[in-house]
Amino acid sequence: MGLLIRNGEIVTVGSRVKGDIYAENETVTRIGKNLEVPPGTEIIDATGKFVFPGFIDPHVHIYLPFMATFAKDTHETASIAALIGGTTTYIEMCCPNRTDDALAGYELWKSKANGKSACDYAFHMSVTKFGEETESQLREIVADGTSSFKIFLAYKNFFGVNDGEMYQTLTLAKKLGVIVTAHCENAELVTRLQAQLIAEGKTGPEWHEPSRPESVEAEGTGRFATFLENTGATGYVVHLSCERALNAALAAKERGVHLSVEAVLPHLLLDKSFAERPGVEGMKHVMSPPLRAKHNQDVLWNALSRGLVDTVGTDHCPFDVEQKLLGTDAFTNIPNGIPGIEDRVNLLYSFGVQKGRIDLDRFVNVASTRAAKLFGLFPRKGTIEVGSDADLVVFDTNYRGIVSARTQHVNNDYNGFEGMPIEGRPSVVTVRGKVQVRDGEFVGERGRGRLLKREPAYF
Ligand code: URP
Ligand code: ZN
Ligand code: ZN
Repeated sequence: MGLLIRNGEIVTVGSRVKGDIYAENETVTRIGKNLEVPPGTEIIDATGKFVFPGFIDPHVHIYLPFMATFAKDTHETASIAALIGGTTTYIEMCCPNRTDDALAGYELWKSKANGKSACDYAFHMSVTKFGEETESQLREIVADGTSSFKIFLAYKNFFGVNDGEMYQTLTLAKKLGVIVTAHCENAELVTRLQAQLIAEGKTGPEWHEPSRPESVEAEGTGRFATFLENTGATGYVVHLSCERALNAALAAKERGVHLSVEAVLPHLLLDKSFAERPGVEGMKHVMSPPLRAKHNQDVLWNALSRGLVDTVGTDHCPFDVEQKLLGTDAFTNIPNGIPGIEDRVNLLYSFGVQKGRIDLDRFVNVASTRAAKLFGLFPRKGTIEVGSDADLVVFDTNYRGIVSARTQHVNNDYNGFEGMPIEGRPSVVTVRGKVQVRDGEFVGERGRGRLLKREPAYF
């Protein structure tokens, strides 16, 4: 059965037109005005609403063994939450640690998602060591359609790579045409500063930020850029949080380094005072890089509006209150992460577009199109064109609501954005032509999501 989305304002990067979209066999087949459709077509009236391409979250954690525990979501809960919030594709960090076998890790992550995700998904493959088998294993993973890597300069002895391993990863990535995403913080400095603070009796969550100051992130960003410059590889800094790190990235871009930048929702909307709240309230807001001094938010929004930041992800990473309390005696034991997969699009629209910080074109670009282009999904995803997957978001700008753990679908008992007002939300969300969400409720097919195979780009 075909699907017609009628009389909406269709917004893609560089275009805004009123019209109809017809989809059959999972793809958009016609776009126009007053389209004639066969009997039996499912019709959705989008009058007075925007129709956006399905949104893409380029940075999430769902299955994640980390800091002596596991992130709370399953692929079922996270994908349903994503869809309710308008995200129709997510890219999950596949994160075996340094003692794990990379290929076995990749198969494990695939098995966790397979048949469980309600929306489409892909992986960034983490390279957490570089041994004798690494090159052949990574070649196999890229041949399987996972054409982006992830490295961590932080998390020493767990996910973190040393400079030699970073060099080897980037050299191979250049050969294979694979983009490398990177968490940029100097692991050695973090370890030393953490030890010093704990020794001084500074154990609460308010000390998390001072243990990973802006200079530590700027150093990591600059070093990653220097390694890109000297290997010719293409890179992407994940969850860039502050002005100093942004300056390091922009300086590299100016000298021709192939580098893109991601901001994430927590750094745009929350500041370090949230992590300075006493007890578990502070712990709920511990992530890395940490929430920063407030002026950095304006810096990030400004960079977004000028196209200097490429994408907005979430770094979705849910740990519940009981897990956060693992860090009661020392902030170094608080599982790092803040969930956001459900709220990204609504909050970005409400605090970005509605507040005049970014225009609608930029909103679609940073929340969908740019990620599709960077990660080999365009034009299948990230736009509305004949031939694109019919991942569509009918967006109601008249909706008003409040973010709350009480109403969320993410599997967690708190929401880091609790109480924030929402001005607009998806009223209908489709995945490859099937309605999955109506008015904030999941009404679709669990397990509909597919692993997206992505060709290397030979940058
Ligand atoms: O605090 C965070 N960001 N947790 C998830 C792991 C990572 O560094 O992305
Ligand atoms: Zn990270
Ligand atoms: Zn992350």
